[in-house]
Amino acid sequence: GVDTLSRIPMSVLKQHNKRDDAWSAFNGKVYNITPYLPYHPGGEKELMRVAGRDGSKLFGTPLSLQVAGVFADCVSIIALTHGWVNIDYMLDECLVGFLVPDS
Ligand code: HEM
Repeated sequence: GVDTLSRIPMSVLKQHNKRDDAWSAFNGKVYNITPYLPYHPGGEKELMRVAGRDGSKLFGTPLSLQVAGVFADCVSIIALTHGWVNIDYMLDECLVGFLVPDS
């Protein structure tokens, strides 16, 4: 965690785009994803796509979309890749600060 929450400008986030120094922003929060890279079930390569960037959009992209007919009606079940994944909870220890625009 962080004792003093930092404000991270976009230009600073961009510099942390290496395998051994990777930060990424999700929903306005900047995380150091470096220690998590080897553990990502979707693979290191996938996660590295958002290194030095805002990863919110890619994180929320559905891997598959399933439609199931239940009862007489059609009920759509949208299976999100990260449907149950809570970044705040999982990467709490890796929180660096909050993303802010460059001044
Ligand atoms: C799967 C965590 C970011 C692509 C997963 C799973 C977890 C996870 C826990 C397993 C989900 C399950 O099996 O139910 C995270 C965390 C992220 C992150 C904590 C942010 C720090 C990303 C990003 C991408 C990505 C940015 C794409 C660029 C994938 C893919 C899978 C996956 C494709 C599916 C792997 C499979 O089932 O074959 N992720 N993820 N993830 N993730 Fe991520």
